[in-house]
Amino acid sequence: MASKTYGIDFGTSTIKICRKGQGLVLDERNIIAIADKKTIIATGNEAFDIYEKAPANIVVTYPVRYGVIADVANMTALLIHFIQKLSGSKRPGSADYIVATPTDITEVERRSFYDLIASSGLKVGRVKIVEKPIADALGAGLEIMTARGVMIVDIGADTTEVSILSLGAIVLSKLIPIGGNKLDEAIKGIVKKKHNLYIGDKTAESIKKKLANALPGLEAVTNVYGRDVVTGLPMEMTVNSKTVYEAISEYLYTIIDAIRIILERTPPEISSDIIDSGIYVTGGSANIFELSGLIKKETGLKVNICEDSANTVVKGLSRIMDEPQLSSLADALRPKNLVD
Ligand SMILES: Nc1ncnc2c1ncn2[C@@H]1O[C@H](COP(=O)(O)OP(=O)(O)OP(=O)(O)O)[C@@H](O)[C@H]1O
Ligand SMILES: [Mg+2]
Repeated sequence: MASKTYGIDFGTSTIKICRKGQGLVLDERNIIAIADKKTIIATGNEAFDIYEKAPANIVVTYPVRYGVIADVANMTALLIHFIQKLSGSKRPGSADYIVATPTDITEVERRSFYDLIASSGLKVGRVKIVEKPIADALGAGLEIMTARGVMIVDIGADTTEVSILSLGAIVLSKLIPIGGNKLDEAIKGIVKKKHNLYIGDKTAESIKKKLANALPGLEAVTNVYGRDVVTGLPMEMTVNSKTVYEAISEYLYTIIDAIRIILERTPPEISSDIIDSGIYVTGGSANIFELSGLIKKETGLKVNICEDSANTVVKGLSRIMDEPQLSSLADALRPKNLVD
């Protein structure tokens, strides 16, 4: 067994890493900046700082898209960089890894997380996989080894994963390609249409954090800078929360539909547990104002927005590493999982 164990949540917008016995040790944007197609010039938060500001020869990309690895080479480069940073050495010693992967993906996609680490060139001991909803629920502080059913909804950057758990296993899980990034895109679109103003992804995200409300009625405004569509000149404009609601509500209702579909398929005995304890919401996008109000209004169920919601998965991985009675929740990929 290797002397260190890392737990990794490869999120679309952020990568979170914990170390056995130490909890969260890294939380950075999962992004890389490459110059002239070959030289890495920045990684993580530093790469995010130059995102949308870099000259044409520098490409800044997110290697995880929709919850799965879309760009193996760049994700490997980032992983090596982060592990070197955490270990304080260019040649880190051997380590075991536990990775959280979405449930509703193909075996090939799941296998690619394993392969990424195993083939990274780092010294790797064992690699284990944990279903993300399980880590999520543990990180939210829920008891999942009992026969009590739990519903967990993780609203991240590119994805929303709606899952039902019972007896430490997943009963149902559905991954949809909707998350904070879609809301940012919708805000960009409506600001362009209504105000004739081009804004960047970062500006759209900051408007969302200030003004996004899941229910109509919020009265708030913020000033934003962008480029006038007609004149091409820099402009300042005031955007209000009504406009933002108009942009995002359609996507929020798609998330509600996914919750409804899963509720409809949930076995009745588990449904009664969920009525009792409510729906647990995690992921960074759980922070949208009044999200609990919207879900409650549309499902009639109690809603719990989890504390520190962007970090529940990595906290769950930490618990699996630190609490021996939970270690069986991490699975080594066995030959039967291999795809011919
Ligand atoms: N206060 C906030 N209000 C609204 N959205 C927020 C807030 N804080 C963070 N977010 C959004 O949460 C998202 C990031 O959440 P999270 O870290 O859970 O995603 P991820 O794990 O990287 O993505 P995924 O799980 O989809 O792969 C971003 O879209 C971000 O804009
Ligand atoms: Mg996530």
